Amino acid sequence: MQKQNVQKQSVQKIYAVFGDPIAHSLSPVMHNAAFRALGMDCTYHAFRVSRENLKSAILGAQAMGFGGLNLTIPLKEEALSIVTPEPIAASIGAVNTVSFDTEKGPVGNNTDGIGAKRALLDAGVDVTGRNVVIIGAGGAARAIAFQFTHDGANVHIANRTASRAMALADDVRSALPPASSCVVTASGLEDMQTIMQKCGILVNSTSVGMHPNVNESPVPAKLLRNDMVIFDIVYNPRQTKLMLDGEAAGATTVGGLMMLIHQGAEAFRIWTGVEPPVDVMVEAVEAELQRRSSL
Ligand code: ATR
Repeated sequence: MQKQNVQKQSVQKIYAVFGDPIAHSLSPVMHNAAFRALGMDCTYHAFRVSRENLKSAILGAQAMGFGGLNLTIPLKEEALSIVTPEPIAASIGAVNTVSFDTEKGPVGNNTDGIGAKRALLDAGVDVTGRNVVIIGAGGAARAIAFQFTHDGANVHIANRTASRAMALADDVRSALPPASSCVVTASGLEDMQTIMQKCGILVNSTSVGMHPNVNESPVPAKLLRNDMVIFDIVYNPRQTKLMLDGEAAGATTVGGLMMLIHQGAEAFRIWTGVEPPVDVMVEAVEAELQRRSSL
């Protein structure tokens, strides 16, 4: 029998985001642009996965040799009991990035807080030693509060439901290293005037101001000052009312798009060990948002 000349075939690495709904995720555009730019034989896809199917989906991805996963609404919390969480994901109580370790199996990480930190660093803002007011106490607020206190910021959490703010502050306080001098406080939204007096960095981690409610802002314009940094995690619209009010007051403003990009960039590093082309990712996401807005 004639010996066949069999070429060694390399199998393309697959990456994915799981969520429900998932159709509007920007992650495929962002990561595929990065893989293309680096000439990596990898593709990234979005899959609609329900909570009930999360475990089989993660284990299935592992069995099929996927390179890594992102998880989004409503799966981030559910994943904690399925993967081995890294300490930051365990503290936050949510997983947005899964990598596959030959020994440990699926490992859960959370890159949302790092994304927020890097978005501010891009604007020349370091949170260390600063007084940060975080509006909101949901998943995004949790990631940001744990990261920023880890980086040495004093944090005040102000939330519509005050009890949720108190609970988050308790969790954050109990995760502080013994030597930390960070102050973590909490309240409702009633007395924003007093809360904003000591505020150096304001973070909106709620959906207030998000399309289509573009005329809403979580903080009255008159409480914004030119010595403040205003960071809004909302990226649709790119300039929220809070940011426009902040600019009018002379404040430095940072939008949520760079947090989205940097949380993805950090996931990319975790999966591949390769430095992602952040500029390419920004360009791809901006073009996609532009394309969608003209539909
Ligand atoms: P995520 O995980 O994206 O942060 P979430 O867990 O639903 O989402 O949290 C949303 C946050 O936005 C909550 O802190 C919510 O306040 P409550 O805890 O009182 O629900 C806050 N939020 C949503 N809509 C709001 C509004 N119109 N005004 C003030 N806060 C709002």
